[in-house]
Amino acid sequence: MEKAWGGRFQEATDKRVEKFTESISFDSRLADCDITGSQAHARMLAKVGLISEAERDQIVEELEKIRGEIQRGEMEFREDLEDIHMHIESRLTERLGDVGRKLHTGRSRNDQVSTDLKLYVREAIDHVDSLLLEVQRAFVEKAATDKEIVLPGYTHLQRAMPVLASHYWLAYCEKFERDRQRLADCRRRVNVSPLGAAALAGTSLPIDRQETAKLLGFGDVARNSLDVSSDRDFLAEFVFDLSLIAAHLSSWAEEWIIWFSTEFGFLKLPDAFTTGSSIMPQKRNPDVLELIRGKSARVMASVTQVMILLKGLPMAYNRDLQEDKIAMFDALDTVVACLELAAPLVRGAELQVERINEKLDDGFLDATALMEYLIKKGVPMRTGHGTVGKLVALCESRKCRLSDLSLEELREACELIDEDVSSVLGTRNANAALVSFGSGGAAPVNEQIAWWQSRML
Ligand code: ARG
Repeated sequence: MEKAWGGRFQEATDKRVEKFTESISFDSRLADCDITGSQAHARMLAKVGLISEAERDQIVEELEKIRGEIQRGEMEFREDLEDIHMHIESRLTERLGDVGRKLHTGRSRNDQVSTDLKLYVREAIDHVDSLLLEVQRAFVEKAATDKEIVLPGYTHLQRAMPVLASHYWLAYCEKFERDRQRLADCRRRVNVSPLGAAALAGTSLPIDRQETAKLLGFGDVARNSLDVSSDRDFLAEFVFDLSLIAAHLSSWAEEWIIWFSTEFGFLKLPDAFTTGSSIMPQKRNPDVLELIRGKSARVMASVTQVMILLKGLPMAYNRDLQEDKIAMFDALDTVVACLELAAPLVRGAELQVERINEKLDDGFLDATALMEYLIKKGVPMRTGHGTVGKLVALCESRKCRLSDLSLEELREACELIDEDVSSVLGTRNANAALVSFGSGGAAPVNEQIAWWQSRML
């Protein structure tokens, strides 16, 4: 097989070099985008008169056949043809002869690979976005069903203040919402056409870059050909966005692993999503959650991989860039796999309300509510803080709760305390007292649920 760039070479390429430099083993995933990009390029070439309309039709049609062949797994991939671009072009030339040899007019593999990547990432963004939406939907459904359940809210993994379970679920929705916004923002920069920047300097041929951009649904055309040839910022951004999604999934998984432990016992996970032990018959392990946590490492590593790949490159294209796809595909596949499991896991999990309620009044979750009660009676905040701190210490020494103290004992600590104090003591009362915008009490949480439900329609 004669190489597309073989003209100036006298010796055949060393087999070891072919093996070392090939990218077909991973970039065959770009086939669909490559064909779509090439069809748009051919249409543009005909429009500006660089090929005839008949040639255009032949090229577009034959490319469509090649698309089918690749989809059906009928194309044999070979190291000596390097990459997906060469495979498709050489098959085209094999079939169409000189007409096929015209396709690469006014373009280089440098703008071609960037175009393919951008088309691929654009689709990937839309796919990840739809999976994130599905996870959000699962959390919103849970929020709507769990709105009577009060949970201990934690900071430092220490009991802090009581929140409705729905508040927890919707907190994850917020994180995934920011992830979706970040992807949408990244998509704007992805959606700028590199095609026609050619190798690095553009071309003397009368190509129409606006036309290919329009045909491929790009929102704009990249202004500087040198920049296009070297630019993988969009890819770095995309893998970062993926890694933040992975971080969110990982800390959610971590929380549920803790909640699923015998010590907590807050959560029941569906059998179909847990695994057993080969030696300990009683075990039910949250392996899926552990792997969601574990796999986040590779997604985060991909950011480092891309950044290090980029940091030492002179303008413009350098072959190092070929490695970008390995990092991106792995990060993408990993996040997609995690998100696909996250939604059914959320839907299948059940809070163990009895167990949660058993200990709900432990840990002074109502201490802050009592302090705020004092503030409402006119006590300066810091004074109230000190007063309640002393009452907590008293309860600890007696192994009792704030609500177990008599009115006299409470009044000894602060004479402004009245009988109405009973309305803020106890975890449920303390939760019901939360009214500020965005807080974990019933009214603000119901507002949040309604907001999310209207968004999820
Ligand atoms: N396989 C190459 C890549 O992924 C395509 C671009 C090759 N360009 C070149 N000038 N050798 O980056």
